[in-house]
Amino acid sequence: MPTHRFDLSGKTALITGAAGLLGLEHAAALLECDATVVLTDTSERQLAEAGRKLKIEFPVDKVLLYEMDVSSPEAIHSVQKALSDQRIEVDILVNNAAIDPKVRDETGLVEASRLENFTREEWDLQIAVGLTGAFLCSQIFGSTMANSGKGGVILNIASDLSVFAPDQRLYRKEGAPDHMQPVKPVSYSVIKAGLVGLTRYLATYWAGQGVRSNALSPGGVFVDQGEEFVHRLSQLIPLGRMANRDEYRAAIQFLCSDASSYMNGQNVVMDGGRSAW
Ligand SMILES: NC(=O)c1ccc[n+]([C@@H]2O[C@H](COP(=O)([O-])OP(=O)(O)OC[C@H]3O[C@@H](n4cnc5c(N)ncnc54)[C@H](O)[C@@H]3O)[C@@H](O)[C@H]2O)c1
Repeated sequence: MPTHRFDLSGKTALITGAAGLLGLEHAAALLECDATVVLTDTSERQLAEAGRKLKIEFPVDKVLLYEMDVSSPEAIHSVQKALSDQRIEVDILVNNAAIDPKVRDETGLVEASRLENFTREEWDLQIAVGLTGAFLCSQIFGSTMANSGKGGVILNIASDLSVFAPDQRLYRKEGAPDHMQPVKPVSYSVIKAGLVGLTRYLATYWAGQGVRSNALSPGGVFVDQGEEFVHRLSQLIPLGRMANRDEYRAAIQFLCSDASSYMNGQNVVMDGGRSAW
């Protein structure tokens, strides 16, 4: 059981992109501390599935589900209104949604992911979700936190790629010419570094009203990525392995609760030591 400093009973946490791999973990982490969680995502089907899984383990009335596109201010306002109609105010915002541009070669996206060919449309789309989405949700829910007299917490989910460049050698495909080699796209690095900037800005902007803002920068989570990739990546990590999906739960609990009451404006990097090498 968490100590009282981690206790989130009476608090409501809204998570964006909550139906994905880590969103579900963040929700479980906060539910473990007795928070009510509002799961939001664009995928109705995945959202329902995430809710179903969580309601097996946690009280059903503590898990709320809303379709919400973070790139749409109207959609965010509409969720805020639906919550306030039920007298629910968001105390904790976890900006987690992203379009994760998985490096893959089977769809012909490899070449398109390279800097020289990366389209303005793809750039705009990814920035709209990963960066503008975090700005809009912070603006809308953060303003209410700041005006509530109770303060709140904003947690931006960045990435270890907020502190170093992608090592494109990880994605190298033997035999392919250089111009066809898969890469992690530039948008990802820009979004994640941008989230750290947003974190610092918010941390100072609303500090007087008790709204703290921090970022969590996870390293890669193991989900059967393929032996060669996992081997290459593990060699770059002092702990010698990728993260398990539940290894960020304790950090989420710390950063979203009073356990981190004096932490503000920081980027917590959890990468198995990769950035220390
Ligand atoms: N999985 C990892 O290894 C890893 C590592 C470092 C950082 N991260 C970061 O953690 C966060 C979660 O990653 P994940 O692995 O769970 O990704 P994921 O792709 O499984 O989940 C992302 C979710 O965001 C949702 N989404 C996409 N567009 C949206 C929009 N317009 N509005 C609202 N939701 C939208 C998707 O439907 C999806 O459910 C991301 O910010 C990611 O960059 C992940």
